Amino acid sequence: MVMGKEENLCWAFLVLLITTLLSDNSFQLIDAQPYKYNPVANLSTSWTNNDSVYVSGDSLPLNSLQPILVRSYFVCGFWCVNSRGACLFAILLSADTYVTEPQLVWSANRDSPVRENAILRFTQNGDLILENDDGSFVWSTNTGGKSVSGLNLTEEGNLVLYDKNNEKVWQSFDQPTDSLVPGQKLVLGNKLTASASASNWSRGLFSLAVRYAAGLVAYIESDPPQYYFEEYFNWTTTPSIQFVNGNLHWLSIPNASAGQLQFMKLESDGHLKVYEWKELYYNWMVVADLLASNIGVCGYPLACGKYGICSDGQCYCPEDANRYETRFFRQTNYRIPNQGCTPITAISCDHSQYHSLMELQNTAYFSYQRLSYNENPKLDNKTDLEGCKKACLNNCSCRVAQFIHSWNNFEGRGCLLISEVFSLVDTGRNNENISVFLKVQNPQKKSRRVTIILGSSLGAFFGVFLMAALCFFLYGREKEAKELYEIYLDQVPGMAVRFSYEDLTTMTNDFSTKLGEGGFGSVFEGMLRNGTQIAVKRLHGLGQVEKPFLSEVETIGGIHHVNLVRLIGFCAERTFRLLVYEYMSNGSLDKWIFDRHKRASLGWQSRRKIILDIAKGLAYLHEDCSHKIFHLDIKPQNILLDDNLNARISDFGLSKLIDKDQSQVITALRGTPGYMAPEWLTLNITEKVDVYSFGVVVLEILCGRKNLDRSQPEEDMHLLSLLKRKAEEGRLEDIIDEDNDEMRLHEAEVIKMMRVAMWCLQSDFPRRPSMSAVAKVLEGLLDVETNLDYNFTTPRRIADAAHKEDDALGVATQLLPSALSGPR
Ligand SMILES: *[C@@H]1O[C@H](CO)[C@@H](O)[C@H](O)[C@H]1NC(C)=O
Ligand SMILES: *[C@@H]1O[C@H](CO)[C@@H](O)[C@H](O)[C@H]1NC(C)=O
Ligand SMILES: *[C@@H]1O[C@H](CO)[C@@H](O)[C@H](O)[C@H]1NC(C)=O
Ligand SMILES: *[C@@H]1O[C@H](CO)[C@@H](O)[C@H](O)[C@H]1NC(C)=O
Ligand SMILES: *[C@@H]1O[C@H](CO)[C@@H](O)[C@H](O)[C@H]1NC(C)=O
Ligand SMILES: *[C@@H]1O[C@H](CO)[C@@H](O)[C@H](O)[C@H]1NC(C)=O
Ligand SMILES: *[C@@H]1O[C@H](CO)[C@@H](O)[C@H](O)[C@H]1NC(C)=O
Ligand SMILES: *[C@@H]1O[C@H](CO)[C@@H](O)[C@H](O)[C@H]1NC(C)=O
Ligand SMILES: *[C@@H]1O[C@H](CO)[C@@H](O)[C@H](O)[C@H]1NC(C)=O
Repeated sequence: MVMGKEENLCWAFLVLLITTLLSDNSFQLIDAQPYKYNPVANLSTSWTNNDSVYVSGDSLPLNSLQPILVRSYFVCGFWCVNSRGACLFAILLSADTYVTEPQLVWSANRDSPVRENAILRFTQNGDLILENDDGSFVWSTNTGGKSVSGLNLTEEGNLVLYDKNNEKVWQSFDQPTDSLVPGQKLVLGNKLTASASASNWSRGLFSLAVRYAAGLVAYIESDPPQYYFEEYFNWTTTPSIQFVNGNLHWLSIPNASAGQLQFMKLESDGHLKVYEWKELYYNWMVVADLLASNIGVCGYPLACGKYGICSDGQCYCPEDANRYETRFFRQTNYRIPNQGCTPITAISCDHSQYHSLMELQNTAYFSYQRLSYNENPKLDNKTDLEGCKKACLNNCSCRVAQFIHSWNNFEGRGCLLISEVFSLVDTGRNNENISVFLKVQNPQKKSRRVTIILGSSLGAFFGVFLMAALCFFLYGREKEAKELYEIYLDQVPGMAVRFSYEDLTTMTNDFSTKLGEGGFGSVFEGMLRNGTQIAVKRLHGLGQVEKPFLSEVETIGGIHHVNLVRLIGFCAERTFRLLVYEYMSNGSLDKWIFDRHKRASLGWQSRRKIILDIAKGLAYLHEDCSHKIFHLDIKPQNILLDDNLNARISDFGLSKLIDKDQSQVITALRGTPGYMAPEWLTLNITEKVDVYSFGVVVLEILCGRKNLDRSQPEEDMHLLSLLKRKAEEGRLEDIIDEDNDEMRLHEAEVIKMMRVAMWCLQSDFPRRPSMSAVAKVLEGLLDVETNLDYNFTTPRRIADAAHKEDDALGVATQLLPSALSGPR
C-alpha cells in the first residue's frame, strides 16, 4: 500500500476493523489451569471491571474476560470486546485446554454494554446491581429486601440468588438471552431473542418461544409478528421445553460426545443452531441446525434478504422472475445475492400518488407455509382482493399485501398487510390461493432539458456532461453521476489500460478457467487479443469504492520491477472491479512448497533464488518506490512463479482498496493472521510487519511445511514454537525439509538462511532487519545478526498480561500468531 504519514491513523482504525471482523477466534491457553475462583459469593461484595485479562484469539485487540464466579466449564464475569470498548456482565462457556474464545451464553445488559470500571454490586440487602463507570444504573435483579443470602453459579451454568433455605429467589435461567445450555428450559412467558448481528449483542429481529396454541414458534418481532416456524404440540402441562442431551423436546440433537459441552443459540439470521466443543478441531462446531429440516432453506425470513425471492436456496429479485425490464428493484449487493434487493426508487410517503402495486406470479410471502397455525392473516372474510390492495395503497407503512383466497380446509378470505418486508418464496406453480403484491414507487418524470441540450450541439457536449454530473451530484443521484464519471475516466491518458467488462468476459471465455481464490477475489485465466496470456482478478465487494480504486490502480500500474507482478489493466464498470495481471505460468508458491511431489523437485538453489527474489521485490516496495508501499499480506499464496521459477510478488497495493464498510472483503482476509507480526496488536504498523511475514514464508520454504500443520504431533504443530525449541537445543537441522535430498547436502547454508528468517521474526520489530539488509545478507554482502531472541510470537503487551495472569489468576494466555493460520 502507499503510505503517507498522515494516513497512519486511518490505518490503525482499519487494522482494528479488520481484526475485529476476523471470525473463528481460535486461541490457545498455554497453561490451562482451572481458574482459581469461587463459584459462590456473599452479600456486600462488589467487583470493578478493571482487571480483565486478554483471552487470546485472532481478534485484535483481543477480547478480555474478568471472571467473578467460576464453576467447571462456566465463567461468570465481565466480558469485553475491546475493539468496541463494550463489556457485558455475562456467563460464558469455556472448554479448558485448547479452546476457542469462551462462548457467550447469557448476559445481563446486552442492550446497554458497560465500560471499563463499571461496577457489579451485590448489596447488603440482596440486590445484584450493575452500574456503569459513571455510576449510572444499568441493570439489577430487583431482589433487594427479598431475603437473599448468597450468589451461586451452578454446575449447569445458572446464576442463582438464593435465600437462607437455599430456595431460588432469582435465576439467570429465567431470563434467557439468545442461548440455552443443557438442562435449561424455555418456559411459557420466556423467549430467546437473537442478537442484531454477529458483532452486535443488542436484541435483533428473531425470537423463539413456546405457546399454548402453537407449540414452539420462531418469529419476527414485528406488528403483527411474522412467524417462520411453528411446531404444533398438544400440551398436557404448562408449555415448556428443555434442552437435554439428545433432544430439545421433540427436536432431536446429536448426543454430546463428552462433558456436555454443547449450547444452543438462536442466530441473528434466524437459525437455531447447536454448537459442540470438538477436541479434534480445537473449536466449537455446529452439530445441528434445528429448524432447517422443517422449514427448508427458503423458509427463513432472511433466506434471500429483504425483497429477495428464494427458489431452492437460489435468490433473485422480484423482476428477474418475469424478465421484466428492471424498473423497481436491484440486488443490494451484486456479488452476494442473498443480501436481498433494494427498491430503485425509495418508497416515499410524500409522493404516494406515485405508488402502485406490482403483482408477483408463483410467489408467496415466506411465512405462507405456516398459515395453518398462525392467525395471520385471519380468514375473516372482511375484505376482498380489491379491498386488500386498496388498504395497502392507502396505508403508507404497508409495503406488501398478501391476499389469501382460501387455505387448506379453511374457508374464507384474508388480507395481510406487511410493513417490513423479508424474503419471498417461489412456489414454483401458479398458486391461485395466494396473491402477493409489492408496493413500488414509480419514478417521477425527469426534467427533459438535459436531453434536449444534448441533442442540440455536439460542441456543447463536454459542458453539458459536466453540468449533468454536477446536477446529479446536487440531486444526490450518485449512481448516474458515477456512470458519467466512468465515461469521463476513459478519456484520461497515462493510466493502465482500461478494459470493458464485456471485453474481459470474452478474454476469459466467460470466466471459465479459475486459477485461484485469494483474499480479495477470484483469479481467472484469459488471453489478450494479441495472444498474451493474462490473469484476471475479479475483486469482491468493491463496488462502492470509487476514487480509491482508480487512484490505487494508477499507482500500482506505475510500478515496474522484475520481482513484482505487473498490472496490465483494469475494469471499473458498474459494480465490477477487475484487475488484469501478467500471467505467471507456474502458479503460486504455496502449490510448490506445500505439495510433496512438487517440493521434492525444488532444490536448494531454486529455493534460495525464490527467497532472494521475494526479498528484492519487498525491498523495492519498501525503499525504492516513489511512495513507500507496505504489502501487509505477504504469504506463499501471494508469491507467483514464472516459467523459470523466478518469483514475483502479487497483490501489492490491494490492502488499500478495502473499504471499511465492505466486511465481506475483510473477513476474506482470513488466514493472513498466521503471517501477521505481533505488533499488529499494538497497531504499530511499519514496513517491519512485511519483514516478519517474509520470515514466516522463508521458514515454510526451508522446512517444506505450513506454519500451522495439524497433521503433526501437537508439540510440533506450530512451526515457530518448533523453531524456538530447536534453536534452543541447537538442532535446527532437524526441521529442514527432507523431501528434497539436495537440501540435506546444503545443510550449513540452509541453517544460515534459517538464522536470516529468525532475524526477520524478532518480536521486537525494531530489531528486525530492513528488506534491503536481508537482500544484502543473501548476496553475501552482510552478516546475520548473532544476538537473536527466540520468542518469535510474544508481543510485549500480551507477554505482560500473560505474566500478570500467571501470578494472579493461575491462567496464562498468550497470543500465538502461528496458531492462527487455519488450513486453507
Ligand atoms: C461467605 O461467608 C461464609 C460465612 O460467613 C464464609 O465461610 C465464606 O468463606 C464466604 N465466602 C466467600 C466467597 O467469601
Ligand atoms: C480496581 O478498582 C478497585 C476499586 O476501585 C480497586 O480497589 C482495585 O485496586 C482496582 N484494581 C486494579 C487492578 O486496578
Ligand atoms: C450452588 O450450586 C451447586 C450446584 O451446581 C450446589 O451443589 C451448591 O450446593 C450450591 N451452593 C449453594 C451455597 O447454594
Ligand atoms: C445494534 O443493533 C441495534 C438494534 O438493531 C441498533 O439499534 C444499534 O444501532 C446497533 N448498534 C451498533 C453499534 O451497530
Ligand atoms: C390434546 O390432548 C388431549 C389429552 O391427551 C386430548 O383430549 C385432545 O383431544 C388433544 N387435542 C388435540 C387437538 O389433539
Ligand atoms: C443420547 O443420550 C441419551 C441419554 O444420555 C441416551 O438415552 C440415548 O440413547 C443417546 N442417544 C444416542 C443416539 O446415543
Ligand atoms: C387452494 O384452494 C382450493 C379451492 O379453492 C383448495 O382445494 C386447495 O386445497 C387450496 N390449496 C391450498 C394449498 O390450500
Ligand atoms: C367466510 O366465508 C366462508 C364461506 O363463505 C364461510 O364458510 C366462513 O365461515 C366465513 N368465515 C368467517 C370468519 O366468517
Ligand atoms: C397501516 O398498516 C400497519 C401495518 O401494516 C398497521 O399496523 C396500521 O394500523 C395501518 N394503519 C392504518 C391507518 O390502517
